[in-house]
Amino acid sequence: MPEQTELIHSFKGIPFSTTVSTELLQALDTFEAREDDVVLVSYPKSGTHWLTEIMKNLYHCNNDNNATGQVTLTSALEFGDLSKFDELRNLPSKRLIPTHLSHDMIPVQFKTKKCKMIYVIRNPKDTAVSMFHYYQQNPLLPKIEKWSTFLDMFLKGEVVYGSWIDHVQSWEKNQNDENTLFLYYESMKKDLPKYVKEISSFLNISVSEDQINEIVKKSSFSEMKEKAQKEKVDTKHTVCALTSDKKLIFRKGAVGDWKNHFTSKQNAQFEALFKDKINSSELARQVEY
Ligand code: A3P
Repeated sequence: MPEQTELIHSFKGIPFSTTVSTELLQALDTFEAREDDVVLVSYPKSGTHWLTEIMKNLYHCNNDNNATGQVTLTSALEFGDLSKFDELRNLPSKRLIPTHLSHDMIPVQFKTKKCKMIYVIRNPKDTAVSMFHYYQQNPLLPKIEKWSTFLDMFLKGEVVYGSWIDHVQSWEKNQNDENTLFLYYESMKKDLPKYVKEISSFLNISVSEDQINEIVKKSSFSEMKEKAQKEKVDTKHTVCALTSDKKLIFRKGAVGDWKNHFTSKQNAQFEALFKDKINSSELARQVEY
């Protein structure tokens, strides 16, 4: 078991888990993207697994026999060492590639080849709570016992992948890009069928109402959690770059759990620090709590 201090390293001032190698981060711009790659981007704990389940199921029920075909879900782009790029090169199209990287760090070819990208945003208070529990249970991340300590780290951007608001703001560059779809965790919780439809039309997949209902059922928190309990740990196929054990992912799947963790003082601290930045970000302003 590595020492706690060996679990995190810093690249360009951003903390990363050691499951993400420096040599890979340095080589990101050499990654060969394909025009039909679909990239799923999220700050950690924003619903990455939920989205991959929806997207996988959408491709599987694709009615259009040859236009879009099946999809190969890869492990997170940045998970592993440099041999990862060879591994991805050998995969058939179409590749569905998850990543937690900021806009400045993603491989340049995702931009030049105009790959379709989906960016999912979750409210930062619930994201912080979700990450706190994840840090506690994940042997690949340092143990931070106290919520107040963790919240301080989150607010300072000292957790893996850095500051939440910097991440969201970096993706603002794509706000008017027709190849990027922005989704909100909270909106999806309110009306999943609507967003499954939106994702399907963004990906040019035709689906029937029955198929949408089936996907909504399969991607419910309870069904996904139950399935994860039965799955073996798969060290190669980890969609979030921070664990290969899906059992760690499905905790509550709720909106507003932050109210059970934030004291009113912590909430005031959060508001004071984040308010201006959130107000100046069109993407962050639309987040519901
Ligand atoms: P909580 O810890 O608040 O429960 P990620 O996949 O990016 O690591 O995000 C994990 C978070 O998404 C966890 O939040 C998890 O419970 C939640 N989640 C996973 N599947 C979900 C689903 N089907 N519906 C709603 N939330 C889900």
